[in-house]
Amino acid sequence: MLKVVVLVSGGGTNLQAIIDAVADGTVTNTRLVGVISNNKGVKGLERAEKAGIPAVCISPKDYSDRAQFNDALLAGVDSFEPDLVVLAGFLVKIPEAMVARYSNRIINIHPSLIPSFCGVGYYGLKVHEKALERGVKLTGATVHFVNEGMDEGPIIAQKAVEVLQDDTAEILQRRVMEQAEWLLLPKAIDDIANDRICVEDGKVKFRV
Ligand code: GRF
Repeated sequence: MLKVVVLVSGGGTNLQAIIDAVADGTVTNTRLVGVISNNKGVKGLERAEKAGIPAVCISPKDYSDRAQFNDALLAGVDSFEPDLVVLAGFLVKIPEAMVARYSNRIINIHPSLIPSFCGVGYYGLKVHEKALERGVKLTGATVHFVNEGMDEGPIIAQKAVEVLQDDTAEILQRRVMEQAEWLLLPKAIDDIANDRICVEDGKVKFRV
């Protein structure tokens, strides 16, 4: 049984997709053991509580500096003794010590087809604003392992989503969530929970 901790920062719609997929059996061999938010009072924490999952807020505002917050975040993750850490709309840089301790055991959902529109400054709505600004006809989402870089870890899966003529950033974000993020993240967790993938030479391989 894969023990999973989910990190959120806001609405938690990706967390909800995971909760629902575990509940309806789309994701198997998985137990959600905890949710951590860096922001107080967000819907992501409410979703966890409603699903009976232990939820805590570890906010940078409660620590004197970034190093203390990083230590508290890592201690908070460790306290759940997870096999996998899932970043679901988590907008805080993961401490190097956490990447090292959970090597190839942290995954992230990014709302573009990496390597497009990713890296420092590309998060949330900004990603879709840049995609519209560039005039791309296809965008999508990527689920990947987290390494020391920003959105640079081994890619697990991607799903393309059409950009339509009258899209606003908000409309496009919603379509990418519905048609890509909310499908990719649960599927990646199910693949990991059922030992279907491994990382070889920095690339994700599916066991045949
Ligand atoms: C979404 O744009 C998602 O792509 C990004 O964070 C935003 C909020 O996600 N990762 P959620 O509703 O909190 O899961």
